[in-house]
Amino acid sequence: MGFMDDIKKAGKKLIRKNILGAPFVTEMCDTCANMYRLGWDERNGGNISYMLDEKEVAEYLDLDEVLRTIPLMGVNAAAFDVSPLIGKIFIVTGTGKYFKNVKDDPETNLGIVRIAKDGKGVELLWGYEGGGRTTSEFPTHMMCHMARLAVDPENRVVMHSHPTNTLAMNYVHELDEKKFTHTLWEMCTECIAVFPDGVGILPWMLCGTNEIGEATSKKMQEFRLVVWSMHGIYGAGKTLDETFGLIETVEKAAQIYMLTAHLPRVNTIKDEDMVKLAELFGVKYRKDFLDMK
Ligand code: 13P
Ligand code: ZN
Repeated sequence: MGFMDDIKKAGKKLIRKNILGAPFVTEMCDTCANMYRLGWDERNGGNISYMLDEKEVAEYLDLDEVLRTIPLMGVNAAAFDVSPLIGKIFIVTGTGKYFKNVKDDPETNLGIVRIAKDGKGVELLWGYEGGGRTTSEFPTHMMCHMARLAVDPENRVVMHSHPTNTLAMNYVHELDEKKFTHTLWEMCTECIAVFPDGVGILPWMLCGTNEIGEATSKKMQEFRLVVWSMHGIYGAGKTLDETFGLIETVEKAAQIYMLTAHLPRVNTIKDEDMVKLAELFGVKYRKDFLDMK
């Protein structure tokens, strides 16, 4: 490299901002801290992927500087086709990393990766210090991004978590999409307005596989929330806040359910009231999930 190239490179570095102050890093830290605080993500439970804007990332990182290439994660990763996302950049929680620790050490617990040109791996641009890799649920995350982008071009976030009451409800409530969604809608007045598309449900499946990724992304064509029976939940949205809020609302409703399921039910929100709410908020809701005549 010539002298002028060195000068240019040094110049670019000088004007580059500190990544630890980047909104997408601080938001990831705050979201992981909140999820841990709420007891949704014990140990390394849960994972998040957030698609970033290339121009915004370039304010902080040299996009030509690849730290290392990481093979695609997951069971049977070789059969996983991520080619529609080639070149896209994501900030992703690391496999085996604890949400509890993200805020104090984002560089070890998070990574910024770009889907490699051959679609067979990811290029690490920042993070995963000490040899970390993307979450083992990377296939599910990427397949869900593809599914949600097809129905909502503004979708950016896929989030997986093990929220306590949602999980508890899996053991005592029928795992039927209509019945499960209906029960949740009955538990808090604004549930139908927050997730009018309802909650999809998968049977228990082996995590980390392409199969669970394919099944989850198929559900994501119609739902932004998908329960993995006896495991946890997936959410998708435009922002970290929106996606967190979706899971938070399901978890709150599940908590009310778990606090009341063993007691005689005296009052409830009626289906006709839910219709009024959906109309007030102007949301398109799953009419077939209500029992209206
Ligand atoms: P990772 O540590 O690989 O992200 O896995 C956590 C998890 O919740 C698996 O479903
Ligand atoms: Zn999990």
